[in-house]
Amino acid sequence: MNRLQKISFASKIVFSMSLVCLSCAKYKSTSIDPGILIQPQKTEEISLQKNMPFPMGAAVNVSLLKSNTNYRNLVIKEFNSLTAENAMKFASVHPSKDTYTWSDADYLVDFAVANGKRVHGHTLNWYKSLPDWVNNFQGTTAEWENLLKTHIQTVVGHFKGKVVSWDVVNEAINDDGTIRNSIWVQKLGVDYIGRAFQYAHEADPNALLFYNDYGHEFGPTKRTAILNLVTGLKNKGIPIDGIGIQMHTRVTQTDANLTAAISTAAATGLKIHISEIDMALNPDNVQSMTYTTTLGEQQAGKYKTIVQAYNAIPKSQQFGITQWNVTDADSWIPSNYSRPDWPLPFDAQYQRKAAYQGILDGVK
Ligand code: XIL
Repeated sequence: MNRLQKISFASKIVFSMSLVCLSCAKYKSTSIDPGILIQPQKTEEISLQKNMPFPMGAAVNVSLLKSNTNYRNLVIKEFNSLTAENAMKFASVHPSKDTYTWSDADYLVDFAVANGKRVHGHTLNWYKSLPDWVNNFQGTTAEWENLLKTHIQTVVGHFKGKVVSWDVVNEAINDDGTIRNSIWVQKLGVDYIGRAFQYAHEADPNALLFYNDYGHEFGPTKRTAILNLVTGLKNKGIPIDGIGIQMHTRVTQTDANLTAAISTAAATGLKIHISEIDMALNPDNVQSMTYTTTLGEQQAGKYKTIVQAYNAIPKSQQFGITQWNVTDADSWIPSNYSRPDWPLPFDAQYQRKAAYQGILDGVK
């Protein structure tokens, strides 16, 4: 291309650009109300993570995260804290004595890092989700202790610096307030609980360590037992930072019990994580039940009560609220209890329910 050809080529570009600009101007001069154009964008800006004054999380199913784009996008948009629904449990990461399988848990952690989300680890010690090799393990007390310690320290060590907090011990207390006679208590005695926290702390001194349980809202018996256990650990100098209130609750639970669950736990001064919230609409397993607007409004009201009570505790104690699963389509409740139910703020089509607004209203 010689100099003249270059000039003519350049002027053609300038000319066609001005045509584009003219058509812009023409478009702009039409009578479309700009409010209409920006309105949908504004609605889209609302999300739990943006609108709530503390972290909002969900328990995530790794296979859905991998395979379902709508699920993945909803998680990216709404939440800033993630818990693995199952991928970090004993049976998932440690299926045989000398084998650790990290792939699903690593996938979740990598996803969280890539999308700027916090990861809460669940759970280092539980009486459920144990592989056969643990349930069948024949060993001395020292060998059981070694099994407990090795598992905790390998898992915490693997995720050190990436997982900021752990449910160290899960569900160690029965509904009547006694200590659950789990395989761990049978083999190691109740003091294993404190040692589990010490082992986790040795493996990652920066991780925040939680005792996690359900039933704080059942009434004073169970919550007092949980709080006695936790304060006992704290007073002994065990490294415990927080209480996980699972809050697998039901729409019929009283406001007084829901509120007391949160305020009494907060009175310990520890961090409080509402760690697994969902709200059954069909606790009596009525097989013919359907979701109605009325039920949805009742659910919204109870979510609001819980969020209001949580918002009232000191900021420094608000670790966040995590819902157990993402939508009514992937909630563990219908399959676990073999019944129709709608426990979450998103419906089975991934749309926001009244409960979503109830959560937002809780911090107004
Ligand atoms: C549940 C999962 O959601 C199910 O997929 C699994 O089959 C059983 O465990 N309390 C807890 C969670 O601490 O780990 C449980 O998760 C729900 C009750």
